[in-house]
This record gives sequence, structure tokens and C-alpha cells, in this order.
Amino acid sequence: MSNSDQLIQSVLDEVAACQKLTDLENIRVRYLGKTGLVTEELKNLSNLSIEEKKIQGKALNNIKLKIIESIEAKKEELETHQLDIKLSKEFIDCTLPIRNNRLSEAKIHPITQTINEIVSILGEMGLRYEEGPDVENDFNNFTALNIPKNHPARQMHDTFYLKKNYDGEKLVLRTHTSPVQIRTLQKSNLPIKIFAPGRTYRCDSDMTHTPMFHQVEGLVVDKNIKFSNLKWFVEEFCKTFFKQDELKLRFRPSYFPFTEPSAEVDINCEVKSGKIILGKGTKWLEILGCGMVHPNVFKQCKLNNDNFTGFAFGMGIERLAMLKYGMPDLRDFFEGDINWLQHYGFSPFDTSDLSWR
Ligand code: PHE
Repeated sequence: MSNSDQLIQSVLDEVAACQKLTDLENIRVRYLGKTGLVTEELKNLSNLSIEEKKIQGKALNNIKLKIIESIEAKKEELETHQLDIKLSKEFIDCTLPIRNNRLSEAKIHPITQTINEIVSILGEMGLRYEEGPDVENDFNNFTALNIPKNHPARQMHDTFYLKKNYDGEKLVLRTHTSPVQIRTLQKSNLPIKIFAPGRTYRCDSDMTHTPMFHQVEGLVVDKNIKFSNLKWFVEEFCKTFFKQDELKLRFRPSYFPFTEPSAEVDINCEVKSGKIILGKGTKWLEILGCGMVHPNVFKQCKLNNDNFTGFAFGMGIERLAMLKYGMPDLRDFFEGDINWLQHYGFSPFDTSDLSWR
């Protein structure tokens, strides 16, 4: 082994044994620093003859390169090792809350919350969830519900009319969820026990009306369904929804073309320092419309069996929410005001009102 090979070997051994970056730097300085061993040798080259310079110069450069290479490799190894140690000691606690409290929790919109509560109650009372489209045909929204053309009841609905569809059929934005009754009667076998929440539209806008609002429809058709069944059902729903066992209900005779007899239902309340207290007092608040399914509705759906009867009801979801949770203005539901939502919205983690057992 030549002298230069020996030198290289001893430096490589030193580097391999090295455990710290500072020690590695010391090795570098000792050989390659300004007054380092190899640097000094390179300086001495100027004293040699041209021939010797060539041979010695090449050998020294080779040594220099080998040392640099081994030091660089060792440096990377030591740095990686240090990083591993650091990473294994440090960890980020991602359970810490963010600093901006205001945005720390998203809120469930009161409409979503109220629909979820209704779904939970009516589901447990044995009704199946149904849906219908927002864009309805004239037949489902009116005619099949015993509201023929030129019927005065059509004027009661401030309808948004759309262009005719490909079949020349008149389309509307549904003015109530009752067309889901028709769709269900046409496709389902008896008995039918369904409810259908969803958006509805009327061309109307003031303190108590928005062009889009929500309703939930209920329909129960079976052998021997009587008005007393309707009364029990509606009462049970209201007491559970408002969490008020003492709640009193008043069935007031009314008129809907698709039910006979028809009733509007009020619940009792008192007003104390501007606040409505449900289930107490002698004032009445209207909350829903209902009745026994009109025979003409069955006829329009080609159900000619006389053996069954049914009841139906329809409620405004915003109204239910406002009475339960105290929002004063209907229009705020659709303003998209983040402060309103922070105040009236619901925690996604609070599911206490979504389970009734
Ligand atoms: N569709 C009626 C309305 O929008 C409510 C209703 C539904 C009444 C079902 C009776 C039966 O006012």
C-alpha cells in the first residue's frame, strides 16, 4: 500500500468512526483547511520539478477528492440521524383549539336541524320518508289534488309558472308538498304511511312570507283510518316536537280542496314580556292544516277501492322552528348572515333532540 493509500485509508477510518458533526468538521479542517495536511502538501508542489508536480499533484488531488467525498457522505448520514432523533422527540398536538373562537365551530342551520328532528319523530311514529321534485306538473300540484282549472283555490296559491315541458305539460314550482301525496298514491301499494319534507314556492314576500319556504307533508292511507286517528297522530307529534306534554290542540274546521273534512290546528300559548310560552295560557297559534283524504284524490290516482280511507297533514317548517326556537323574523332564515347562524344554529355534536327514546 502506497503512502497516499495509507493516508486515504486512515482518513476514511476516522470519518467512519466519527459520531458528531463538529468532530467531522475538525477532521475536514485538519486535512483540507487553510493549514491542513493536504493543503500544505499542495502548497509544497511549487518546489518540485514539472514531472514530479504532475505525479504528486494528481495523487494529492485524488486524496483530496476522496476525503471530500467521504466527509460529505458522513455529513448527510449524521444530519439525517439528527433529524430522526428530533422528529421522534417533537410532536404536534392537533387537538389544540384554533385561536379565532368565533369560527371555531360550524353550525347546523335551524331548517336542517328542524327537518332532522321531524324526520326522527315521524320516522319513529311509523312513517316512511318520501321526496318529490321542486318542479312539478300542473296535474300533481293542482288537478289531482281536486283543484281543477278555474277553481278559485288556484288563486290562493301565488304560483310561479314555468315554461311548458316537452309534452306541452304546464310546469310550476310546487306551491306545497301535497303533490308528493299524488306521486305516492300512484306508485305505492296500500297501506301507505309516508311523510315528505321539502322546499315549496309562492310568489309572495313580506315579514311572514318568503318566495321559498319549507313544508312537511304527511299521508296515512289504510283500511279504517278515521278522523280520530288523525287527531291522535297530530297531537302526539306536536307534544313530542315541542317537548310539551301539557300542550293543548284546537281543531278548527277549515277548507282544503283535497281533504274533507278539513281542519286547521292551533296550539295554546301565552305571551309573557314579549315571549311566547307554548302549552300555557289561552291564546291560540295556528301550526298546520290537515283533513281526511278527499275521495276525488283517490279517483284521480285511479284508486277505486272503497275499502280504505286516509288522513293527510301539511306544516310549515320555518313556522315550527320559529315557535320552538324563538326566531322573530322569517326572512333571516335565508339571509345567510353568519352572526344569525352562530346565534340560532345548532352544534353538530348536539344530537339530543334527534333521539326520542
Ligand atoms: N297543502 C296545504 C297547504 O299548503 C296543507 C295541507 C296538507 C292541508 C295536507 C291538508 C292536508 O296549505
